[in-house]
Amino acid sequence: MSTPETTTARTAAQRTAHRRRYLMCRPEHFTVSYTINPWMEPARPTDTARALAQWQTLYDLYRELGHEVELIEPLAGYPDMVYTANGGFVIDGRAYVPKFRFVERAGEAPAFAEWFRAAGFDTVEPHEVNEGEGDFLLAGDTILAGSGFRSTDHSHREVGEVFGREVVSLKLVDPRFYHLDTALTVLDPVVAPGQTPGIAYLPGAFDAAGRAILEERFPDAIRVAEADGAVFGLNSASDGCNVIISPRATGFEAQLRERGYNPIMIDLSELLLGGGGIKCCTLELRGTEQA
Ligand code: ARG
Repeated sequence: MSTPETTTARTAAQRTAHRRRYLMCRPEHFTVSYTINPWMEPARPTDTARALAQWQTLYDLYRELGHEVELIEPLAGYPDMVYTANGGFVIDGRAYVPKFRFVERAGEAPAFAEWFRAAGFDTVEPHEVNEGEGDFLLAGDTILAGSGFRSTDHSHREVGEVFGREVVSLKLVDPRFYHLDTALTVLDPVVAPGQTPGIAYLPGAFDAAGRAILEERFPDAIRVAEADGAVFGLNSASDGCNVIISPRATGFEAQLRERGYNPIMIDLSELLLGGGGIKCCTLELRGTEQA
């Protein structure tokens, strides 16, 4: 019998969780004291203890799922350092250092560079403005690169040269989704060479050219509804089976289940006051040993 249910079950059995290595930063100094994205309202109070507790649930979950989590020491005066996705872009043991768009975060870059060096990564200093894995996502062999608000088109060329990979530029047009990782998520971090990974994205966050590219390259992608995108549903982390998402993204949760993924809900509402979510708090450290 070929009911939709049996199809789903079959798909579910095929999803494989891959052990990841991540870099995170405890939000010890988290607050919102300036505005560099539309989510940040300094007049609205923040609760650092609550941010820490919510962040801890994400950290603990990654460990329970078998992932390795490295920590970078938080710097006083850098409340956004918890968003380690912006701390670099790492493939094959090489780390491309960020150059932040706004002066408020500029001082984080040397700290991340120092961390990469100490951890033995081949550390490459940037010439161009780029915000790391906030705007660069590895999809199979290709780097998907966001522009429009933070990382520049010049950085797309630079990141391609640094890693010797194809770069596909995608222009973001909605200020709420100012980094690529707020509008698109890669669901399969590991695929066989030449295979297209599953992705999910919010079409309205991209210009017409970007939408056309995504449709052509990822015809099977999950297209997420505006309501799920607006609660940072796409700012998620996946190991190929378990997909950590916001509990508010209920439509996306159902779409993931239909495709055989295992969505797990973690609430980072306090960190959303800074305009960041699950993926923002997570930087992938891809070593030479990982496919
Ligand atoms: N307040 C931070 C900023 O505006 C949030 C960064 C979110 N990070 C991300 N990868 N989307 O830079």
